[in-house]
Amino acid sequence: KKWYAVIGNPIEHSLSPLMHNTWMTVEERDAAYLPLHVLPENLEQAFTGMKVLGISGFNITIPHKETILPLLDELDPLAKKMGAVNTVVRLENGQYKGYNTDGLGFVKSLEDAVGTQHKNKRLLIIGAGGASRGICFALVQEGYTNIAIANRTVSKAQAICNELDTNAEALSLDEAATQLGEFDIIVQTTSAGLNHSEFALPLSLENLSKTAIVADIVYNPLMTPFLAQSKEKGATVVTGLGMFIHQGALAYSYWTDVYPKAAVVEDILLANLG
Ligand code: ATR
Repeated sequence: KKWYAVIGNPIEHSLSPLMHNTWMTVEERDAAYLPLHVLPENLEQAFTGMKVLGISGFNITIPHKETILPLLDELDPLAKKMGAVNTVVRLENGQYKGYNTDGLGFVKSLEDAVGTQHKNKRLLIIGAGGASRGICFALVQEGYTNIAIANRTVSKAQAICNELDTNAEALSLDEAATQLGEFDIIVQTTSAGLNHSEFALPLSLENLSKTAIVADIVYNPLMTPFLAQSKEKGATVVTGLGMFIHQGALAYSYWTDVYPKAAVVEDILLANLG
């Protein structure tokens, strides 16, 4: 039997075990995926334990995505660039390699929803935290070339722009709100609209084009105020659940060589949000 896990602190609310175990069951794999509560001070010992037990792969969530890096034997270039790992794979030689599927999971979700024909369109990424960084690197890797990043702290948006291998522009939230109508795809990466978040919207949607595609990475609630207002204005909306599913699907594919179907887990995840 093969064992997989997700490690984090806290971990009890993670939907990853439900998602991966559903895929494993549907495919009749002799495998199981466990949630493991690991405190920051125990990360190294926990990893040693998992190695000794021969665990086949694991996901990593807050607060270990950065601190796991020096413990790994190998790093995928995208994970190295991001400085964060969310997926670890046990290689045939018993070594453990780190990947980051968060940003690519977003791109897969976007392309699942609206197709792959938007690579030259104008993209606006709102927010400049870790999630935004991962998404920006992945978008550029996947061939998206026209990116602007808007953030409350513009210097953080500029710092990401400087790291991207394409021309990218940093904007203030006010500038982005004014120019909003010029963007074809808008991606909300801050915690705005998350249950209990202190702020509902990162910027005004008054100037949004009705032909825009608007994506949010928050999936709890599924319809954030940002998406709800965008939809009212006629935009096509992409919820954050797809990113969660596809970051998991990519991890699963690295472990098994099979890319599982998003649709298999959608309903069960929707029923367990909240
Ligand atoms: P994550 O890793 O989830 O991306 P993060 O690195 O803490 O989280 O980034 C949070 C993002 O939300 C940042 O873009 C942050 O803006 P700043 O860089 O200016 O801090 C943004 N954010 C958080 N609270 C905000 C608020 N009240 N208004 C606007 N933006 C906010």
